[in-house]
Amino acid sequence: MKTHVTALMALVGFTAGAHGAEGDGKAVFQKNCAACHQANGKGIPGAFPALAGNAFVQGPAKDPATVLLKGRGGMPDFSQSLTDGDIAAVLTYVRSSWGNSASALATEEVAALRSELSAAQVAAGPMSNKH
Ligand code: HEC
Repeated sequence: MKTHVTALMALVGFTAGAHGAEGDGKAVFQKNCAACHQANGKGIPGAFPALAGNAFVQGPAKDPATVLLKGRGGMPDFSQSLTDGDIAAVLTYVRSSWGNSASALATEEVAALRSELSAAQVAAGPMSNKH
């Protein structure tokens, strides 16, 4: 029993360690964005724009971040479901994948933009906003 608990704690520690870094942008994308924009970032022509090779996505980071915080057209607003850290990570991933090469986003930039736009906060919960 004791060994099991130790192994479990090691596993939890490992998982927690893997999170928090900008590194989980891919996971955030697959969970929240890929259904529309597709795992390969190519979207679905006529329905969901390609993010791969997209100039808007690779322009000033504030622009795609505004789309995520406020929504636009058929694009849902992620202000209440993604933390500043998640948004920074997913946009960093999108801006540097599939041939895209634009700068990373910091969590602080998203936090500043969130208050500038008066976008909603992530729904409060015991674990929310803890990145
Ligand atoms: C329900 C489908 C859907 C989901 C889920 C979705 N999007 Fe979108 N997205 C759209 C649509 C539709 C548009 C075009 C909006 C418009 O016409 O103004 C769009 C537009 C965008 C744009 C602007 C592209 C441009 O060229 O102007 C970005 C950036 C973007 N999405 C990123 C994301 C990211 C990152 C996620 C995940 C956090 C995501 N989207 C999730 C449907 C979706």
